[in-house]
Amino acid sequence: VLVSYVADNGTVHEVAASVGISLMEAAAMNDVPGIEGDCGGFCACGTCHCYVDESDAAILPDMHELERATLDFAYDVTERSRLACQIPITEQMDGIRVRLPARQY
Ligand code: FES
Repeated sequence: VLVSYVADNGTVHEVAASVGISLMEAAAMNDVPGIEGDCGGFCACGTCHCYVDESDAAILPDMHELERATLDFAYDVTERSRLACQIPITEQMDGIRVRLPARQY
């Protein structure tokens, strides 16, 4: 499926990602800048912080307690914030655009 990562400066990185891996893993495997994933996807670091569009909420898994807690470690968090490692890619997400924050630290 096609996933676009939109950097804070507007640069778009389009990635052909496999279903089943996370939005963080797809970014890391394709060297997308602006997303770190320091903890390796264990919902422990907050450096895979991204923003999702409200219109995509229905096709994304709900936030669980741990994701909400770990987001407290991220910067510039808004109500659109998610941790990319906690979102597995599905067929329904084909064409999704994910925005990346200006900083992860
Ligand atoms: Fe560490 Fe997502 S990679 S919280």
